Amino acid sequence: MTRTDTTDVSRPGAWARFRSRQSGCPSGPVGRLFGRLMVPTTAPANDAAIDALDLAIPSVVLEVGFGQGRTVARLAALGHQVIGIDPSATMVRQARAHNRRAIRAGTVRLDAGDGIHLPLDDDIADAALTVHTIYFMDEPATTLAEIARVLRPGGTLALACVVSDDGLDPWKDPTVYRTPSINDIHDHFATAGFVRVEHRALDQPSGVHLFFGRARR
Ligand SMILES: C[S@@+](CC[C@H](N)C(=O)[O-])C[C@H]1O[C@@H](n2cnc3c(N)ncnc32)[C@H](O)[C@@H]1O
Repeated sequence: MTRTDTTDVSRPGAWARFRSRQSGCPSGPVGRLFGRLMVPTTAPANDAAIDALDLAIPSVVLEVGFGQGRTVARLAALGHQVIGIDPSATMVRQARAHNRRAIRAGTVRLDAGDGIHLPLDDDIADAALTVHTIYFMDEPATTLAEIARVLRPGGTLALACVVSDDGLDPWKDPTVYRTPSINDIHDHFATAGFVRVEHRALDQPSGVHLFFGRARR
């Protein structure tokens, strides 16, 4: 993948802006297509996040920003109960369709959120994951604090994303795709109340990093 230096401030073109907006908030038929197309790109990071959580079966798992719902389906197939929140109405519909049997069976619940707060009770999840979403969060520390609130004390969060330390992809509009640094993410985890935070670069061509922390309360 070609990357530019972080000092490259050239304005992204119309396609970059459109692609960034659809990645951040997939909407309509194009959003559904984006949802399907992103699966092969994001699946390895999602699988690494699931592995990092090292879940006891069954666990209650929260996914924030579930997109097309492929990871929700994987978690449900592994025997977990899954709660998902995503601000895109298009993604909620697509992921519900993809997981309709598990929803009918009562093992999966997928809802829309406002992108900052989670419409969920305290202390209901054993673990949480959020993959390729932090770029689009207007208040990342607030949303991570919300995840900590929904987790049971000691519950674990796995967050996967690319980081600005590795450079910025030229196709991403930085006003939409706000790629954080490794330090930014450590700060957000600490502000949100996560402890024993670990970080490692995944051994994947996409350059994804994985952050892992435990809810303090
Ligand atoms: C690039 S997609 C990634 C989807 C999925 N996690 C994956 O890895 O395939 C970004 C997702 O984040 C969601 N999203 C956008 N803003 C968000 C926010 N503030 N909080 C949580 N998710 C958000 C989008 O609706 C979209 O489903």
